[in-house]
Amino acid sequence: MEGFELDRSALDISDVYFEHYQPADTVGVGDTRPRLSWKFSPAPPGFQQEGYQIDIYEEIPGSTKLICSTKGTRLRQGLGKGLVTTWSRPAFLETGLLSREDWKCKRVTVPWHEDPETPHPEHLYRKEFASSNSVTRARLYITAQGVYEAEVNGKRVGDQFLAPGWTAYDGRLQYQAYDVTHLLADTGLNCIGVRLAEGWFSGHLAPGLFGFPRNIWGAQNTLMAQLKIHYANGSEDTIVTDATWQTAPGPIRLAEIYRGEKYDTAFEVDGWSSVGRAGSQSEWHFAKVLEDLPSSVDLIAQRGEPVRRQTVIQPQAIITTPSGKVVLDFGQNLVGYTRVKRVRGPKGRCISLAHVEVLENGEIGQRPLRLADQLDQYTLRGEDIDESWEPRFTYHGFRYVQVDGWPGDDPQALRERIEAVTCSTDMKLIGEFTCSDVLLNKLHENVIRSMRGNFLSVPTDCPQRDERLGWTGDITLFGPTAAYLSDCYGMLSRWLGDVAIDQQALGGVPAWVTPNVLKGLKMFNGGIPTAVWDDVVIILPWTLYRATGDPGVLSAQYPSMLLWLKSLPRNTVQNSRLWRPDGMQWGDWLDPDAPPALAWRAKADPDFVANAFLIRSLELMTVISSILNEPGDARAFEEELEACKQEFHKEYVTANGRLVSDSQTAYSLFIVFGLYQDEEQKSRAGQRLAQLVIDNLYKIGTGFAGTPFVCEALAQTGFCSVAAKMLLNHECPSWLYQVKMGATTMWERWDSMLADGSINPGEMTSFNHYAFGSVATFLHERVAGLQCLEAGWRRSRFAPSPSDFQPLTTASTAHLSPFGSGWLVGAVLHVSVTVPAMTEMDVVLPDDGESRTETVRSGEWSFTVPYKIAATGEPKLGFWQSLISTRGTRT
Ligand code: BGC
Repeated sequence: MEGFELDRSALDISDVYFEHYQPADTVGVGDTRPRLSWKFSPAPPGFQQEGYQIDIYEEIPGSTKLICSTKGTRLRQGLGKGLVTTWSRPAFLETGLLSREDWKCKRVTVPWHEDPETPHPEHLYRKEFASSNSVTRARLYITAQGVYEAEVNGKRVGDQFLAPGWTAYDGRLQYQAYDVTHLLADTGLNCIGVRLAEGWFSGHLAPGLFGFPRNIWGAQNTLMAQLKIHYANGSEDTIVTDATWQTAPGPIRLAEIYRGEKYDTAFEVDGWSSVGRAGSQSEWHFAKVLEDLPSSVDLIAQRGEPVRRQTVIQPQAIITTPSGKVVLDFGQNLVGYTRVKRVRGPKGRCISLAHVEVLENGEIGQRPLRLADQLDQYTLRGEDIDESWEPRFTYHGFRYVQVDGWPGDDPQALRERIEAVTCSTDMKLIGEFTCSDVLLNKLHENVIRSMRGNFLSVPTDCPQRDERLGWTGDITLFGPTAAYLSDCYGMLSRWLGDVAIDQQALGGVPAWVTPNVLKGLKMFNGGIPTAVWDDVVIILPWTLYRATGDPGVLSAQYPSMLLWLKSLPRNTVQNSRLWRPDGMQWGDWLDPDAPPALAWRAKADPDFVANAFLIRSLELMTVISSILNEPGDARAFEEELEACKQEFHKEYVTANGRLVSDSQTAYSLFIVFGLYQDEEQKSRAGQRLAQLVIDNLYKIGTGFAGTPFVCEALAQTGFCSVAAKMLLNHECPSWLYQVKMGATTMWERWDSMLADGSINPGEMTSFNHYAFGSVATFLHERVAGLQCLEAGWRRSRFAPSPSDFQPLTTASTAHLSPFGSGWLVGAVLHVSVTVPAMTEMDVVLPDDGESRTETVRSGEWSFTVPYKIAATGEPKLGFWQSLISTRGTRT
């Protein structure tokens, strides 16, 4: 490498990434100008990259040719001068079908009539074809309106679950590309088979409240597939779906996202995806060719990680319920399905598996599922052989499974015969937290489990009842936590594209849920503007940008941001730029004091919450438009921001800084969103918030909107120790109440399960909702002490403050790096940090009652300083609260 001294150091280049693709997902991508990124390991202290060299090879079957070698200009002078890294391992990328013209296949469906009002069995498709020469490369491009699994010569293609994934189907349909070279026979006959079920496209979806609709995007499930084969002699073949493909109903008699899967072996077609063995020919019909997919629907390559099966979990206990039912307990609430292994029994025997999250009075608690049965059924072949089965086209949220119809009478035998399989979008975990408090650690595990389970193709609210929808508010609030814990940029930036499509269809107002399952309902024509939920179009792209430093998501979503702010209904009656006050708002959804059936009845005024979020969004727009180099927009947003702030103050803030909505949520938003006019106001707001928390006996008083901010607001105003007491509180409502009650995922309500073990009587009671898990950000940023100061973590800050978090003695967190940052306190404070290459960290250390900041660059650093746990000043309980809290105690 010219210009570098050839001192090949121990410095390695690793994790070479194209865009945000995981290495396993780089066949058939849609980007034609992908950006590259890489990591250095181990980066020497203060290392700076000065230049780079990238060699690009074209891989032609049988050979590899260097087509270009590019050298990066010197980026900046730095301490790493003179070091040359070793070469990285080669990274591979292949583009897919980039335009509609590349699609040569027909869109096919079944030729028989199906009643659109009732669920129908899966469709099997097959096509035999000959390969004319030795196969050197074969790619299958495939998508469906429905959900599919493909096989070639009887073998499964790829490992995706519920492909092609869930998008705003009116606007775009994702396709997958698979390398199937190894599955094809070298010369001779081959067979491709595809099973196709209803999935999100046409199965029952949306809450029962809205009529339990079907066929939201269409009543017909269709398939498009194209297999491109390259031969050793240089020739090519393309096998495409057309009228020569055959189709038949398959053994999956029902497959719906909510209801579950029913598989009857009596309908199996032996060898359906293998050459010459497809049962009786009379069962097969030629596929019907439909008109091409409308041009309004984009065919896009897979973006973000697909959904995959993740882990296998064995039952932890076999329970016999008071009514004599056999129930398996998997020991944790999870998202996926159960797999039946090596069962023997009489032909026609039906095994039923009913999945639930909790038990009530010792029996399975199905009420919270509403119209989602979560019931899988398998009907045995019964030929005196071991049978194994797992569903393909459904998933459930569950910890317990009631098994009915199992052949044999020893329930304990089920331990070896049934296991759970977890499924989720296959994103990498990149964040950790641990501390000396076991319950806090459990809480953090629960947050991760809820995030994993609810990231299933789209960010869903819950995985069990008749919802599982991309509710926008939930991810707006949980986004920062998710982006710290997981590499979710790919999945969420793709989903934001779907949000923009649904928003366009509603004339500018984002849908409540994307993909918009409510689009057919009259009351939603034109959308119903709602703060916080709709702010997703601005806040979530910002969150992803902050976490990664990648402005791509900002420019892609900018039109959607502008459109939303244009559509937001203002208070024109009072000639104000604030929200129109007579609209519908979700407000501080699920305030702990809201009655079970009235989730919107919060202590915080919903209009206050709406306007606080409007101001937050406008402030972000001033920054985003500057980053995107739109100075005119930036100026206009600054002006609007100032006007809104003034109107907000007139409406909601007294001269001395009291808020008209005297609630934990209102003060939290006021502080964290910087809505105060001066430091004095901020400090008074902090005092009042601390008083409210203390008078509430350190119990939480916030719903969805306030929860991510309440502890942070206390910390920002000098009441970190109050936040800590709230965090460590076990009384309901609190984060640890649910942990104490045995929760293994985050609950939707503070009291989803009441202290007596009964399920909250509200209609809406999930045990797996991530919104209240947004508090994990406080664990990372304040309890452990690691904060991002500049987008993409170019600058960070580590500021431990053990005095505030008594009685914790250790806390540590990691983001991306396996080492991370942590503290341990005794008579001295030990601080250790690992700073990634080319970034800087401010380490804030206590110093004789004050603090001093050490700025360090890449490398591992540790500090030991004398430390005395200090007392923390807090307001005292108010008169009545103190009377109530001491009632019954005599001194
Ligand atoms: C969902 C929420 C969602 C809400 C709308 C609920 O049914 O589960 O998480 O955000 O509706 O407020």
